[in-house]
Amino acid sequence: MGEYPILDGLDVSGKRVLVRADYNVKVKDGKIKDDTRIRESLNTINYLTQHGAKVIIMAHLGRPQEELAEGKSIEDVKRSSTLAPVAAHLENLIRKEVSLVPDCIGSEVEKRVRTMQNGDVLMLENLRLHSEEEANDPKFAQSLANLCDMYVFDGFGVSHRAHASTAGVPLYMIEQGKPIAAGFLMDKELRLWSEARAREGYKLLVIGGAKLEEKTKAVDKLAPKVSSVLVGGAVYNIIRAGSGINIGDSLVTDGDENYVSRGKELATKSSNLILPERVVIARKSDYGDIKKIDIKQGVPEGYMIADMAIDDKIKTEIAKAQVIIWFGNIGMSDLDVNGSFPFAKGTSDFRDAISPNAYVIVGGGDSVTAAKGLANVHISTGGGASIQLYTKGKLDALEALKGNVAYFAKPKK
Ligand code: 3PG
Repeated sequence: MGEYPILDGLDVSGKRVLVRADYNVKVKDGKIKDDTRIRESLNTINYLTQHGAKVIIMAHLGRPQEELAEGKSIEDVKRSSTLAPVAAHLENLIRKEVSLVPDCIGSEVEKRVRTMQNGDVLMLENLRLHSEEEANDPKFAQSLANLCDMYVFDGFGVSHRAHASTAGVPLYMIEQGKPIAAGFLMDKELRLWSEARAREGYKLLVIGGAKLEEKTKAVDKLAPKVSSVLVGGAVYNIIRAGSGINIGDSLVTDGDENYVSRGKELATKSSNLILPERVVIARKSDYGDIKKIDIKQGVPEGYMIADMAIDDKIKTEIAKAQVIIWFGNIGMSDLDVNGSFPFAKGTSDFRDAISPNAYVIVGGGDSVTAAKGLANVHISTGGGASIQLYTKGKLDALEALKGNVAYFAKPKK
């Protein structure tokens, strides 16, 4: 990738450093469900505080503008998309006060920044509460840029978006002759995806878990770039439904009602899908009456597909892989039923079949836990960003870091 400045080596002491992180994490009842993105950003944050920077973090959470467009009140949206739980979580991880400002621009923010001491950490409230963020509004970008002496981009997960905080700010900083740099997480991610692209040999994409929109996109875009795709999770369910099999009450949708045609389309487009033949089903209401069936038999109503059997033929395919891109677990491996995990075998059989020489990239969530202990395993914090980087080799935020003004001047394909 090269040609972008890196944080290491820059003099940050006493400087107001504005860090764009990707803290777009799942929050439930005020608690962070998966803190991988926050943990992975710690190298940069700790480096900056330990070297005496005044650290101003900016990030987004969810898509508040969509919620507003759906008719929710601004008060409700502010409540549901506040970064307060993220600030509290980060505070625990770095064992240092992380103070959250109620907005990301304006006089209150400027006042708080003025009173910062070296090593202090301030977090700005959700950038996307302002529509100007996603519109990459120049004035909004300048207001953010004017808060700092130096800009660090470390939000790999959002690096495929040309927003004010990811593209507008760095380009404006360059124009003003102010320093910008990639943080350690961004640099690590760029290196690991470029390694995965460059490696020769059999490449296996593994798709599982929920998050149907993101996962179908991954199959769509990445299937042509890999040798084969092992399909589990919700994508498996919609593909089977698309081929006319009754899948009972299996997980199929996160809002997309057209899942049957979506599944059919995916299967028709990609000729390299590996679909397990035997599945584990269970009663949906209590996860009881667990049994293994041939999927062609169909799943009775009231039952759901909870896991898939990784047979010897599939194990041979897995063992061949030199590069594995692993997005989500095969079955519902984290489902705790009275203290046991009855649907974890598909994932553990897959994991055990991986060659010790394989270069494995794991995309967040439960897969990170399942991959623990594997040799040569690398965690990635990107969903859409990873897909874009792997397929196109380009990212908007990376082009901004390189000062590629021409890239932003012409409409992108
Ligand atoms: C993500 O979670 O993929 C990134 O934070 C980007 O979020 P977005 O898809 O809402 O732009």
